[in-house]
Amino acid sequence: MVDLKTEYMGLELRNPIIVGSSGLTKSLSGIKRCEEAGVGAVVLKSIFEEQYQVEQDIPEEDINVYPEALDYMRRGGLLEYAPQELTQLIEKAKKEVNIPIIASINCQSNKLWPSFARQLQDAGADGLELNIYFLPIDLDTPSFDYEKYHLDILEKVKKEVTIPVAVKLTIQVTALPHLASRLADSGCDALVLFNWFLVPDIDVHNLRTKSRKGIGDFHQSLRWVGLLSGRVGCDVASSGGIQSGEDIVKQMLAGASAVQVCTLFYQKGVEETFHLLEGLESWMTEQKCPDIASFRGDLSFKKQELSFKNLGEAEVYFRSQYLKTYAGKK
Ligand SMILES: Cc1cc2nc3c(=O)[nH]c(=O)nc-3n(C[C@H](O)[C@H](O)[C@H](O)COP(=O)(O)O)c2cc1C
Repeated sequence: MVDLKTEYMGLELRNPIIVGSSGLTKSLSGIKRCEEAGVGAVVLKSIFEEQYQVEQDIPEEDINVYPEALDYMRRGGLLEYAPQELTQLIEKAKKEVNIPIIASINCQSNKLWPSFARQLQDAGADGLELNIYFLPIDLDTPSFDYEKYHLDILEKVKKEVTIPVAVKLTIQVTALPHLASRLADSGCDALVLFNWFLVPDIDVHNLRTKSRKGIGDFHQSLRWVGLLSGRVGCDVASSGGIQSGEDIVKQMLAGASAVQVCTLFYQKGVEETFHLLEGLESWMTEQKCPDIASFRGDLSFKKQELSFKNLGEAEVYFRSQYLKTYAGKK
């Protein structure tokens, strides 16, 4: 029997599989189903600030509250309170479920992140994931400003809560290693690599733009997990494209402390956890690895850099030119 326990952002997980933030975790029955299927933890569906914004131009007669309350809501008062629906979900889940519950936040305005964070902690969340999600599209804004934006949010949240805090990043952030290292220095407990976007498309017959669902990029995640784990002072979780137990092994050899899975569970049901764990366990048995610590990070950039002068296996993480790869080959 191998031991699948792992530690992620200071939380002990019975195994490294986490159900990523999504509709799969938005209800108590969904969370219970995840626990029964055997996952190590869940990240709840993100709470999005804009869900709770009260439009300025909604006529008063269309909103069923007192005019004073409406004024209060329009001034942003409503946003001071994370919706009860979510805090109640956390309270109930903490009573009925034993795996760690990580709540997820996405805000627009800087000041609301810490307020939401504290309320979710008070409701009993074991950890928080900050879903910092935007594209740096402004021509006049330098990378530094975007990086500072991440750091400001993390610092404000960390001042407000004592539970562990992860930051979920998008691949589009520049100088990822530098940002990752500054986030870790500012108290970030884990980085989640990466968030996933809707992607643009174009309908060439009707000359219109449209959005469609993106695909989690397993290999981008593998590259950056491999490059960052062990080099920054926090845990790293992979998120994107996990399809099998072997994929989990790869991410953990690259140094991931945990993996987040969504699309596969939407396709095959969260009960697919059984096959993922089976794949992970049989690889560990075959390789004679008694526990996760005995192989995690063995093929990370950091471990290879320390063990081999020529970087050993780690060169793949930054090699990007075919020319070099195929040099001398027909
Ligand atoms: C239907 C769906 C809804 C999602 N909603 C959120 C969300 O609210 N917040 C968030 O941070 N990520 C969200 N994600 C992203 C997942 O948490 C996760 O990062 C990603 O889907 C993992 O890649 P995979 O789907 O290839 O396994 C969502 C993903 C899906 C498929």
